[in-house]
Amino acid sequence: MPVNILAIESSCDETSASVISDGKVLSNIIANQTVHEQYGGVVPELASRAHQENIVPVVDLAFRKAGMQPADLSAVAFTQSPGLIGSLLVGSCFAKSMALALEVPLIGVHHMQAHVLANFIEDPKPSFPFLCLTVSGGHTQIVYCESPLRMRIIGETLDDAAGEAFDKSAKLLGLPYPGGPLIDKYAQTGNAMRFRFPEPQIPGLNFSFSGLKTAILYFLQENRAKAPDFAERNMADICASIQHRIITILMNKLVKAAMETGVTEIGIAGGVSANSGLRKALAEYGAKHGWNTYIPKFEYCTDNAGMIAIAAHYKYLAGEFTGMDAVPSARAVF
Ligand code: KG4
Ligand code: ZN
Repeated sequence: MPVNILAIESSCDETSASVISDGKVLSNIIANQTVHEQYGGVVPELASRAHQENIVPVVDLAFRKAGMQPADLSAVAFTQSPGLIGSLLVGSCFAKSMALALEVPLIGVHHMQAHVLANFIEDPKPSFPFLCLTVSGGHTQIVYCESPLRMRIIGETLDDAAGEAFDKSAKLLGLPYPGGPLIDKYAQTGNAMRFRFPEPQIPGLNFSFSGLKTAILYFLQENRAKAPDFAERNMADICASIQHRIITILMNKLVKAAMETGVTEIGIAGGVSANSGLRKALAEYGAKHGWNTYIPKFEYCTDNAGMIAIAAHYKYLAGEFTGMDAVPSARAVF
């Protein structure tokens, strides 16, 4: 009998469900919550309420798209940590109820481990050891992977995440939340060399983005004092220059990590890996340094249950199950 798993992701503002069969993702349904746009960021209480509304139809659709029924399941998986606690509770309660009713095992998944494993959903899959740059709205990490379930963080941000750097810069420019995709869009027609923003000098493999945010704030204040519509008139060049700097900060550390570890299987993951400039940079650096590079398909980059499903698949094979007494955690717990 094939191993069929229903996976649920509800860590932030996407309600998602996926059905995976023997490691093949058959469905990956994602309901985005638009309610947060007017507030300029995710409102936790509104996120958990929207998960409550979305979860049944999203799971239903995931089953229908996969051509499966609850009785076909071998296990139920859910995002256990990290994330917004109210949001995590909706997914975990749903998964527990379903596992209990069907009398199948429960599998709690670490959201950041799942982002890394998004690289293993489709062929060609990386071989080990594998280095992954995970860049999302809450995290920026370089992860060294020995196997699907054995991974350790060798570099991370000391302050803002790369996604936050995008979103906060966008906010300073007067763009709506989440600003990352908009900066990407404007950057496509801009001159990335027009404005120079500083690169922080952080030792080792760690990152820092708070200095960049402050530099952009002063840069805009100064120029708006001379011409109030400065940002609007130069949007493409400003976005291209900001994006270029964020990408060079990320790629310079990734090159350092590859050199220090000797690893040549290199991938990216997380919401910011949807960025067209970063995807292009990874391919270019890969060609230059002789890496085999991996980028998950767009739908597996931002928060999605397909990545939770592939992580659950590996956990199922390893016999790593979760007790019914497991509670979700806002902070990362391995
Ligand atoms: O992984 P994710 O969906 O959620 C978290 O777990 O945080 O990442 C969301 C982040 C946001 O900061 C968003 O602005 C950023 O990913 N993002 C992008 C792009 N698409 C999403 N940043 C830059 N360029 C993009 N195309
Ligand atoms: Zn995420």
